[in-house]
Amino acid sequence: MLDYKGIHYETHPEVYEPAEDTFLFAENLKVERKDNVLEIGTGTGLIAIIASRGCRTVTATDVNPQAIDCAVKNIIANKAYNVELKKGNLFEPVQDEKFDLILFNTPYLPTEEDERVDDALDAAWDGGADGREVIDRFLEGLKDHLNPGGRVQLVQSSLSNVERTLKKLKDMGFDASVTAREKFFFEEVVVITGTLKS
Ligand SMILES: C[S@@+](CC[C@H](N)C(=O)[O-])C[C@H]1O[C@@H](n2cnc3c(N)ncnc32)[C@H](O)[C@@H]1O
Repeated sequence: MLDYKGIHYETHPEVYEPAEDTFLFAENLKVERKDNVLEIGTGTGLIAIIASRGCRTVTATDVNPQAIDCAVKNIIANKAYNVELKKGNLFEPVQDEKFDLILFNTPYLPTEEDERVDDALDAAWDGGADGREVIDRFLEGLKDHLNPGGRVQLVQSSLSNVERTLKKLKDMGFDASVTAREKFFFEEVVVITGTLKS
């Protein structure tokens, strides 16, 4: 059993174990009491549990079925009864729904074909050749799932072109900036926060 600030949670060999990027995200969430939140790629569910303590509802998704099983256990153990879990790819499980805040700690590492691993854990970091494969697909669907004035927070690395994400968000009508950053051995991990302009 792992612990983050009093939240006890478990993981699984095929589920992303919360790491520095998760903790940077946890410390820089901008959740408001009135929010209905969507978290894509919930992994163990830790971010969803933290967010759920400061908002109305959280819908948490993951493409990895092992992650959903793991998150169910953690959500029940932490009595996070306002969290609903759904399995699926990006916005597919929430097709007609809109949210006030959308969160995603993305798979942001540039990954060549021969670096791929053949299990569900690959989806936790595999961002394709330039690290942006999932980030760009996420950005394409984002606006359709936000209420007016809605916000987005995503985590990515300096290895997957932070400026490009900021430019895309601005072109889509967001005020967007890097709101947290931390340097690691070979990269900088950032939290980008955007608000849809009215
Ligand atoms: C870096 S991990 C983050 C996990 C967790 N949110 C955290 O911060 O510890 C990325 C997560 O996104 C999930 N994921 C990757 N691609 C996805 C997609 N297309 N749709 C939904 N989830 C996805 C992975 O399975 C993984 O659980």
